[in-house]
Amino acid sequence: MKKLIKNNVHWVGKVDWELREFHGHEYSTHRGSSYNSYLIQEEKTVLIDTVWAPYAEEFVANLAKEIDLKKIDFIVANHGEVDHSGSLPLLMKYIPDTPIYCTANCVKSLKGQYHQDWNFKVVKTGDKIDIGSGKELVFMEMTMLHWPDSMATYLTQDNILFSNDAFGQHLASEMLFNDLVDQCELFYESMKYYANIITPFSAMLRKKLDEIAALNLPIDVIATSHGVVWRDNPMQIVKKYAEWANDYQENQITIVYDTMWNGTKRLAEKIAEGIRSSDPEIVVKVYNLPKSDVNDVITEVFKSKAVLIGSPTITNTILHSVAGFINLMKGLRFKNKKAAAFGCYGWSGESVKIISDLMAAAGFEILSEGFKNQWNPDGNAEVAAVEFGRMTAKSLTGT
Ligand code: FEO
Repeated sequence: MKKLIKNNVHWVGKVDWELREFHGHEYSTHRGSSYNSYLIQEEKTVLIDTVWAPYAEEFVANLAKEIDLKKIDFIVANHGEVDHSGSLPLLMKYIPDTPIYCTANCVKSLKGQYHQDWNFKVVKTGDKIDIGSGKELVFMEMTMLHWPDSMATYLTQDNILFSNDAFGQHLASEMLFNDLVDQCELFYESMKYYANIITPFSAMLRKKLDEIAALNLPIDVIATSHGVVWRDNPMQIVKKYAEWANDYQENQITIVYDTMWNGTKRLAEKIAEGIRSSDPEIVVKVYNLPKSDVNDVITEVFKSKAVLIGSPTITNTILHSVAGFINLMKGLRFKNKKAAAFGCYGWSGESVKIISDLMAAAGFEILSEGFKNQWNPDGNAEVAAVEFGRMTAKSLTGT
């Protein structure tokens, strides 16, 4: 059922309450998500984006209850990824000649995914379409936010920015608007989304935010493609993005490890104790990787000024959970973060050096040679691990 956004603009998307994984198994969505599609009914009728393919029949059936599909004058595809374009193949069976406005890269992605030669109309930043009643749609390329094909669309007079993935959250809600949902959940999910999806493109985002600010457009509503619509002080999320894009960090150290027989776990806990005793102001959090949600841990890394990574040595290398996590962090291209390694070993003891090398290659500044311990930590080793934590904290605060 459609829901009113403002004037003649309605939400016609799908709230996906049961979604628990996104991008395959790559992103956890504990609070579900939504695929937001919008219907604008001025002299021209415009559909902005669609919903993910499993909900295509429901989406098209609901849309057909609201409007004769043949009355849709054109479709705007802000982004080709399947969660927003997945209903196009079914919809276009009913309206095969309807123009689809999108970027040149979006044509590539839609053709590559659906192998259809739809009536594409390529647009670039600044291109406009008159939709009647004195209103226009203005297109704005959002290259690499987060795909090369991404775009935002601005509706004049109503002052709505259809931002697609940018400013979104994986958060299922019937409440539709940002002022009607739990603010802690909203900001946590917004940050998690940024940390796990937008971080690698922070430099491009900074430029884009400057570009948008220079346009001096009045923005009353930011209608994203996931989660709730920002109608109450919509610029608050733009300001957050500006903060997050600027190598964001809080006064936090995150300790991440995996362990075989709990030796490395004990080191992690003792190192945390040392950090805490050195500087009670520093927030320290400890995660056993296989027992944690990696995307939530990535969000903690995002907030941290340093990450301490632990693994025992196994078959001359490190545990695969730790290797995979470092690879995930490498892809996210965190900037201005420091790291150190720790781990227990029985025989050869390569893990600490391997972790340090991998973390350096992932763009982290390595604080020290790390901390390694042969066999199970005894009392002396525990004292040394506390001291390692203390020295690590001191090296961060410069005291
Ligand atoms: Fe929500 Fe990049 O798709």
